[in-house]
Formats: sequence, structure tokens, C-alpha cells
Amino acid sequence: MKKFVLVTGGAGYIGSHTAAALAERGYEPIIYDNLSEGHIEAADGRLLVIGDTADTLKLNELFKKYDFKAVFHFAAASLVGESVKDPAKYYTNNLSAALNLLSVMLNFGVKNIIFSSTCATYGNPVRLPMDEEHPQAPINPYGSSKLMAETVLKDYNAAYGLNYAILRYFNAAGAHPSLPIGESHRHETHLIPLALKTLIKGSGKKLTIFGTDYDTPDGTCIRDYIHVSDLADAHILAMEKLFADGGGFAVNLATGKGHSVKEIIDAVHFVTGLKVPVLTGERRAGDPPVLVAANTLAAHLLGFSPKYTDIHKIIQTAWNWEVNKRF
Ligand SMILES: NC(=O)c1ccc[n+]([C@@H]2O[C@H](COP(=O)([O-])OP(=O)(O)OC[C@H]3O[C@@H](n4cnc5c(N)ncnc54)[C@H](O)[C@@H]3O)[C@@H](O)[C@H]2O)c1
Repeated sequence: MKKFVLVTGGAGYIGSHTAAALAERGYEPIIYDNLSEGHIEAADGRLLVIGDTADTLKLNELFKKYDFKAVFHFAAASLVGESVKDPAKYYTNNLSAALNLLSVMLNFGVKNIIFSSTCATYGNPVRLPMDEEHPQAPINPYGSSKLMAETVLKDYNAAYGLNYAILRYFNAAGAHPSLPIGESHRHETHLIPLALKTLIKGSGKKLTIFGTDYDTPDGTCIRDYIHVSDLADAHILAMEKLFADGGGFAVNLATGKGHSVKEIIDAVHFVTGLKVPVLTGERRAGDPPVLVAANTLAAHLLGFSPKYTDIHKIIQTAWNWEVNKRF
């Protein structure tokens, strides 16, 4: 019997890698994406239904057709700066449309959801590394919209028996080592692809380092980068835990290692042999100096440990994608 799973946002970066990993493990991912940010090519030949998570009729049709064992909910808007300028977009897409999806799931008796959350729900760190008990005090509407959705999941678990896995990613990076999928955001804000794009012949681009006077060893911000294939694997482990035990849990997905902006630039140089042209800019509002996760709960609960622990290997996969990218 086919094991259908729904992957909202599966034509996007992390969703497409998770859909690929699901298919490799014998599941039948059905991708549902409105292509606002995603790409048809990212479905890589898997079934893609073009639709919005706010569209109840379309979701009803889909749930009638397929007996989903679980839903992976990646579909969201996720630009921090935009969320400050246009919070309505974030509460509508990340909260209201998520509520809609949950209603359809409950109506059809689909009880397992794996939800894409974020370290942005923690806000400014009060201790490092940040574990799952760290206070959640988001400092922008993006983080708030995700935290509200987390709260909804916990309440739906208590009231309706919905099983949930809340996965709080730190910085996703890299690309599939062999399939033609990778990171291709229309509005790229992530450091590694931005650094790599400056190296493409004729791009004329420079990388801006936002702030060089932070209280960190080299003055630039430190972040925790996790490979997208590791994220995909963790999603499957999370789903299988829900199948086995039900209930609900929230875990960080990260390597637990921090790299500064300057270290990433040096690592890009090491991997590609090319020097990233840089500009120095002002600090961006709301950028904490250090965001590094405690990642032991995912190891304990899911048996998950990232395979990509060397930032050079992560960057190598991103570079392979950047020079061969098809979308
Ligand atoms: N990339 C990261 O480092 C990171 C970190 C933390 C959390 N996240 C979360 O992970 C998820 C995936 O991130 P990503 O980087 O792959 O983003 P992405 O933009 O590449 O993918 C999101 C996909 O969702 C689709 N989408 C958006 N709104 C939709 C809607 N209403 N209906 C149907 N489809 C819709 C987009 O077209 C896109 O294909 C998001 O929820 C994001 O907030 C990402």
C-alpha cells in the first residue's frame, strides 16, 4: 500500500529536499505549493499540485483523493525584514493559512503534522547554546507568527489529539549532493548563497557584511549552519516518532557549532579557491551577535545527529549547486 504524505511548500528549498528524502525511503510525497517562492523544477518529477494552503476547497479535494499518513508543513513566508514591513502577510500566511490546513487535516482524520519552526521564535539569546527551554520571545512578526502556530499545535494536541513535531531549524544550508535541487530563493537573504553568487563570473556582486563590531572573536555575527539533507533526514525521523508514539514535541535542528560571517567567507575561499568581494555595512536591526543551538534533544528523542559536521563540506554542496543550478 502506498504511504502518501503531503508536503506543503515542497517546491521550495527545504521542502524539495525532504520530498526527495521521503521518496528515497519509500513514501509517496504529494507536493502542494502556490509557487509564490518555489519552483516547478524543484519538484524534480514528483507530483506537484499548485495551490495555496488558504484554499480550503482545493485542500479538501486533495485530502479526499489521498489517504495522507502525515503532513509536512513547510509553506510559509520567511523574510524577517519583510515581516516587519508587512506583518499582515506573515500572520495571514503563516498563521491563518496554517489554521485552515489544520482544520482540513482534522476533518479528514489526519493526525500527524511535522511543522517547520525556527530559532526566530526564541528572539535574543539569554543563554548560549540555546536549548528548547530557552524563553521564546520573538523580536519580529516572522518569529511571532511561527510561535503562534506552535501554540496552536500544542492546544490542538491537548484538545483534538493532533500529533505534532515542531522542528526549530537554525540556518539551513547546502544542497542535495546528487539531485538537481538546491537553494534558490527569489529574494535571497542567506549568507552562503549570497557569498557564492558573488563568485559567479560576471555577476559584479559584492557581499555586504552587516556589522564588524559585535562582541564576538572577529567582530562578525555567529550562526549555526545545518545541511539541508540532514534537515530532511530529521523530518523523516520526526514523522516516524509520531507514527510510533503519537503525542507532540519541539526540538532544535542544528549542528551546535557556530561560524562567524568572516569564517564563512574564509571557508568559501578555501572551497572554491576564489575570494569573495566584500563591503562592510552597518549592523542590521534585530541581528543577535550569536545564535547557536543546543542540539542534544533531537539526538535523544529522534536518534538524529547531523552527518555534515564540516562547514567546508556543506559549502562544497552549495557551490556545486550554484555553478550548475537550473532554477
Ligand atoms: N531556510 C532556512 O534557513 C529556515 C530556517 C528556519 C525555518 N525555516 C522555515 O522552513 C520552511 C521552508 O523554508 P525554505 O527556506 O525552504 O523556504 P522556501 O521559500 O524556499 O519554501 C517555502 C515554499 O512554500 C511555498 N508557499 C508559501 N506560502 C504558501 C502558501 N500559502 N500555500 C502554498 N505554498 C506556499 C513557496 O512557494 C515556497 O515554495 C519555512 O516555513 C521557513 O519559515 C527556514
